[in-house]
Amino acid sequence: MTGSKSTNYTRIWDVWIRVFHWSFAATVIFMLVSGETGFLFFDWHQPVGEFVLALLLFRICWGFVGSSNARLISLFVNPLSAVKHLVHLLRGTVSQERGHNAAGGWAVLVMLLLIAFQAISGLFIADEDELIEGAFYGSIDYDISERLLHMHHLNAKILMIVIGIHVFMVFFYLVRAGHNLITPMITGKMRWLGAEPARVVKFANPALGLVLLVACLVVAAVVFGWKNI
Ligand code: HEM
Ligand code: HEM
Repeated sequence: MTGSKSTNYTRIWDVWIRVFHWSFAATVIFMLVSGETGFLFFDWHQPVGEFVLALLLFRICWGFVGSSNARLISLFVNPLSAVKHLVHLLRGTVSQERGHNAAGGWAVLVMLLLIAFQAISGLFIADEDELIEGAFYGSIDYDISERLLHMHHLNAKILMIVIGIHVFMVFFYLVRAGHNLITPMITGKMRWLGAEPARVVKFANPALGLVLLVACLVVAAVVFGWKNI
């Protein structure tokens, strides 16, 4: 089943994975820039960080009730298949997937976990002058807060490396195997190169995604006390 009018194109990503991806990428880049510079929009560091947490909450929920290739369980693949996949990629013989490939699934998990740690640790820390304070700063022991601040700084560096590898790999697929992964993440559709039929994706009702996203934003607004919503 190719799932589109043209036999050459097959639908891969639902609208909510795409909305999540690009808003997540934009806000995380914003957070890295505002944090690293310490002056560029730094007064937005806290609210945008809380918004990132709302997006993460949405992605976790969508990982349970969303389309089959968005399910979190599908990201846990036998690590041996991930290694085999990378070997095929290096040889340029890797086949197309209608979802995350074996190696990509682990990479996605690592990115989501690192960003979750970054945003959650942010809730408990403050900068030296206490101009920017996380929503729960002061609710834990000062020493733990200091340690989290140190880890927030360290994890930011790790994040930049991991995101750099992520973007590098996306382009590596294009150059080494001729697989364009970027267009599908924008339009939802992939040009299917192989002769064999694509694995069927069970798409979830998009209205459910909208309800979930609004619910996650409301939860964040209540927990973090957003005033202007
Ligand atoms: C995705 C979420 C986040 C990312 C990517 C991020 C990124 C960063 C980065 C790159 C830095 C600078 C680290 C350095 O100088 O080495 C930083 C510092 C900081 N962030 Fe975040 N952050 C996030 C969430 C949060 C949240 C939710 C808060 C809550 C207020 C927060 C509060 C702070 C504070 C207080 C600093 C320390 C500034 C200083 O050292 O003067 N962060 N963050
Ligand atoms: C801060 C920057 C970024 C972050 C945090 C990020 C994070 C992610 C995450 C979490 C996924 C998994 C999607 C899901 O299942 O929910 C993903 C997939 C993807 N990302 Fe990014 N991304 C970033 C930047 C980019 C950029 C700049 C590009 C394009 C050049 C890109 C291209 C893709 C593609 C093509 C996929 C799908 C990979 C596949 O086919 O399995 N990402 N990204």
